[in-house]
Amino acid sequence: MLERNYEWDARIPRINDVYYEQGNELKKFKSVKGGRWRIEGPTGCGKTMLAEFFAAKRKLPLFTIQGRYTLNPADLIGRPTIAGNDIIWIDGTLTKALLCSQERECVLLVDEINRMEPRSQAILLEAADYRCQVTIEARDEVIRGIPENLYIISTLNRGGAYFVNRLDAAVEGRFSVIILDYLGLKNREAEVELLIERCGIKYELASLLVETANKVRVDAKSGKSVVTIGIPTRNLINWANLVLSYSKHGIGENPVIDAAKDAVIDALYEGQARTTVMQIILGMCDLPRNELIQII
Ligand SMILES: Nc1ncnc2c1ncn2[C@@H]1O[C@H](COP(=O)(O)OP(=O)(O)O)[C@@H](O)[C@H]1O
Ligand SMILES: [Mg+2]
Repeated sequence: MLERNYEWDARIPRINDVYYEQGNELKKFKSVKGGRWRIEGPTGCGKTMLAEFFAAKRKLPLFTIQGRYTLNPADLIGRPTIAGNDIIWIDGTLTKALLCSQERECVLLVDEINRMEPRSQAILLEAADYRCQVTIEARDEVIRGIPENLYIISTLNRGGAYFVNRLDAAVEGRFSVIILDYLGLKNREAEVELLIERCGIKYELASLLVETANKVRVDAKSGKSVVTIGIPTRNLINWANLVLSYSKHGIGENPVIDAAKDAVIDALYEGQARTTVMQIILGMCDLPRNELIQII
């Protein structure tokens, strides 16, 4: 008989940063006991953070499965491992989440589910549908979870040019969908506040960066531009931090534009898109020296 002694409390994430809502996404999670959700949106729009923040706020143990091609069914279910002269069984992440749900509410985050191959998706489905179970064939064991205790939150990147596995139709149909966009496009003031809080910049500079990012984002969403991805919040944070550092250390003529080159252009864009995004940034941020001094 396998002894399982897990410290579920150790799984509760600690997050210091605040998650800024785009709509009612946190309320939606809360409103359904053990919901099955898929968060969709472009890279860097806060999908992973939303799931982690929800778990942290509600003090729920979090189990994360990172979707990738090399993910093995054994990573989900578990595998035998050699320990000294013995062979012991190590539970996989999915098994642990189901075990935890037998005792208390918890969150299973299936991050970038579209990167999971069909074999792994099928295993996930058995846990996400009415069965709420995992079959451990090697041990002739079935672990049943308590569906009302298990929040399953998956994320899926939309937009941008990278490989996406097809989601199995049955898996796709299990989840209710929450669509996120770039924060500044949904809630401009929230992203401005985020930059002020996280980076310590002035309101005027935060507004300028968000306005500029929004122009690039709108261009990317138009589908008619060489620019295919917008500026994620993460890069906006880096941009704001670099503006402060460059200006403090007197690097360059215009710290806003110098910082944009390093935190946005070089970090995100290639070819023609670099020129187009740079033009948008110059159009917004090429301010005279005396104005720059006022806002930085
Ligand atoms: N709504 C938001 N509130 C607070 N921080 C955010 C938000 N959206 C993005 N961020 C910041 O951007 C980072 C990247 O977000 P992430 O959740 O990794 O994006 P995604 O999973 O959609 O690619 C986060 O770690 C966080 O610092
Ligand atoms: Mg993510």
